[in-house]
Amino acid sequence: MTHKIILDTDPGIDDAMAIFFAFQHPEIDVLGLTTVFGNVPVTMAARNAVTLCDIAGQDIPVTQGVGMPWVGPESTYAHFVHGDDGFGNTFPKASEKPLDPRSSAQFIIDMARQYPGEITLVAIGPLGNLALALRLEPDLPKLVKGVSIMGGAAFVPGNVTPVAEANIWNDAHAAAIVFAADWKLTMFGLDVTLQTPFSPTFMDKLADKNSTLGGFVKDASQFYMDFYSQNRDDKVCFFHDAFPLAHLIHPELFTVTEGQVRVGTGELDRGQTVVAPAGTTASPLWTEAQTINVATKVEHDKLEQLFIDAYAL
Ligand code: BDR
Ligand code: CA
Repeated sequence: MTHKIILDTDPGIDDAMAIFFAFQHPEIDVLGLTTVFGNVPVTMAARNAVTLCDIAGQDIPVTQGVGMPWVGPESTYAHFVHGDDGFGNTFPKASEKPLDPRSSAQFIIDMARQYPGEITLVAIGPLGNLALALRLEPDLPKLVKGVSIMGGAAFVPGNVTPVAEANIWNDAHAAAIVFAADWKLTMFGLDVTLQTPFSPTFMDKLADKNSTLGGFVKDASQFYMDFYSQNRDDKVCFFHDAFPLAHLIHPELFTVTEGQVRVGTGELDRGQTVVAPAGTTASPLWTEAQTINVATKVEHDKLEQLFIDAYAL
């Protein structure tokens, strides 16, 4: 079975790894890349996304989306994690291909109307494009098959504040809109992604199997690995963004639990994803909130092999 997806992204090194995996896997049909600010400013995210398409020989639409959080000033970016160029200071030749002229939100709506009930929205950056698409087309939840998100921290600490993960923290008000919508949403947060460190050996395998795509990921990951390896003895990094894509095709690798979710938008709880498993609270703040699926575990070895096998194709 082939899964039609739109990949909403802020490339980003783990975004690049995830995008190439999606391109490589025969059961994933990427209708387009929609970009958003996050790791880098949105203009850079869009240019980086087209460049990744060029590197992979993919001629698909790439759109530029929201460049600011729903509320508040322009974000600070994560160049200290992803490098000045978003690709670990490897500075690949930027593609000169034009972007699709539509906004990311409009592209999502157009595709959802064209393929009603068929598309999974896979969001691996802050959630402004999805929130805007929901505002522009309130029936969007009925038009898509589901939503898979890399973001949040349900039962573990955050990575930006003690309680918030970066994608949700970057645009907490947008995330609150997206998590409150009536659609089938599965969250791949730090609960599952930080359980799964990837080693230099893994990067070597990707590069051996595919010198162009794996080689790119390996080179770009050196800077990213230095960031993640501070304060530990081994060298590792985390490919957060590839998890929702792996789940699309191999859900049996994951343990998923249900809960009702609220997203914090205050000063202290900004971006916190507070998940109440069924029956754990009587508070209407949660009992009347949307139920989502939260990934809590993954089979690490099989996940690695899935990525390696796809890069080898
Ligand atoms: C998320 O934030 C970004 O740095 C990554 O690309 C990923 O989407 C992890 O918290
Ligand atoms: Ca990302």
